[in-house]
Amino acid sequence: MDDFLWWRDGVIYQVYPRSFCDTNGDGLGDLPGITSRLDYLAGLGVDAIWLSPFYPTPDADFGYDISDHTAVDPRFGALEDFDTLVREAHRRGLRVVLDLALNHTSDRHPWFIESRSGRDHPKRDWFIWRRPRPGRRHAPPNNWQASFGGTAWEYDAASGEVYLHLFTRQQPDVNWRNPDLRQAQLDVVRFWLERGVDGFRLDVFNAYFKDERLRSNPFKPGLRAFDRQVHLHDMDQPEMAPLLAELRTILDGYPERYAVGETYLSTPDKAASYCGAEKLHAAFSFDFIRHVPFFPWTPGWIVRQLLRRDASFDRAGVWPTTVLGNHDQRRTASRYGRGEDDRMAKIAMTILLTVRGTPFMYYGEEIGMRNLRLRRSELMDPPGVKYWPLDIGRDGCRTPMQWDATPGAGFSSGRPWIRLHPNAAWRNVAIQDGDPGSLLNFTRQLLALRRASPALQRGEFVPPARTPPGLLVYQRRSPAGTVLVALNFTRWKRRMDLPPGAWRLALGDGRLISENPARPGRLELPPLGLALLDGG
Ligand code: GLC
Ligand code: CA
Repeated sequence: MDDFLWWRDGVIYQVYPRSFCDTNGDGLGDLPGITSRLDYLAGLGVDAIWLSPFYPTPDADFGYDISDHTAVDPRFGALEDFDTLVREAHRRGLRVVLDLALNHTSDRHPWFIESRSGRDHPKRDWFIWRRPRPGRRHAPPNNWQASFGGTAWEYDAASGEVYLHLFTRQQPDVNWRNPDLRQAQLDVVRFWLERGVDGFRLDVFNAYFKDERLRSNPFKPGLRAFDRQVHLHDMDQPEMAPLLAELRTILDGYPERYAVGETYLSTPDKAASYCGAEKLHAAFSFDFIRHVPFFPWTPGWIVRQLLRRDASFDRAGVWPTTVLGNHDQRRTASRYGRGEDDRMAKIAMTILLTVRGTPFMYYGEEIGMRNLRLRRSELMDPPGVKYWPLDIGRDGCRTPMQWDATPGAGFSSGRPWIRLHPNAAWRNVAIQDGDPGSLLNFTRQLLALRRASPALQRGEFVPPARTPPGLLVYQRRSPAGTVLVALNFTRWKRRMDLPPGAWRLALGDGRLISENPARPGRLELPPLGLALLDGG
């Protein structure tokens, strides 16, 4: 396969820097820590790493409130450490994707400090300032809501005006309509490209532009105020198209560069509409995590999600992504599995790595890290602090990577910034490394299989004509071969007939009962068992 394209056919691994590896004992992961674990990541078999923000930040939103987009927060290292990280990653064949949050800055960013300093400051227009409506005190200009709670407008007593923030009030939204701001933002992109990064994950990119007239959003029923609006005027504006084209031209000035957008309030059609020539390479559709009121996680539901997603992306002629977990979601293994049993986590990992689309793996997913239940007093994440218990926040999926059974789990010799999961003592890389049946070794084998299989990378997704209840069975077909995936979602042993052909067990605990080519084969799957079969 000489047309291997890293961002399409490879696997991208998300690192949350402050929780990955701490080398100086301050309890916060750092860039040298990531560098020290590159051998592990290369050995795992992923193709790229995406680094959540490591830029200077006052931590109102744990790094997603950036006060300097072209520097490294001293707590995480320095630019030289970043250069070393990129060099060492490239030496191991790993690409590096940065997380750019360009919808807003921190309120400590010099741009905002200047903008706030006076109504006549040249940078005033770099953010979205308005006079409050006359009448009620500081009445906001429209009904827009911050997604972390409350009105999206914050009053600034010094100037008597309000500014817009779609997230916390410490994250003022920039004004992408201002040409100087636009240039300054694109310079950030150029800065990192020149430093050798391979691509970007664009934080809430589809919210960059807001309705020019700032019209109020229409009402719809929902739980929180933010959900009780149709987000017609505060995101997905047509002005996005020329900006994406300009961004793409910049990226295309370098070989094999990439941008994936975090589609805010995504649907498959919406995400696909942002991908393609003169647009992004990819955009998350979050078919398995967001904006799904509940997660049935049954074979039927999973197939429906996949078919719906693939139809949207195929119509647009673009390639999808698959995401089961990230720093905004409960841990995959806690969402889909029960207790500490890893059989369902293996099934989830198999889905992630064998359906169509570029897989995004969240750090620790390969050892089945579980969500940590924090006490209310321990919560740090703004939506959790505000909405607990309706929303417990996202701290629980950001706990330190569990490397070994030492007191700091191999993450830190100091006191971690967030409590370790108590299961770190026995759920960790070192122990799973030595256990041939562990989720970690399973993930490594699966990644190796995928790496060698054109069918698993690019093959057509062939859903089942009919499947015994409780089983999820599909094929990936390419001219170079076929892989059949069979997953048993039930707690009973199940048998199924195989389609005609000579099948060979490539991975899993399933068992072929009849391998006689004259008779159709049968496959037996243990409870919550799985099999990947080669052949057909
Ligand atoms: C994105 C990030 C999330 C952050 C928000 C605001 O949704 O994934 O972590 O809080 O943007 O930047
Ligand atoms: Ca550190």
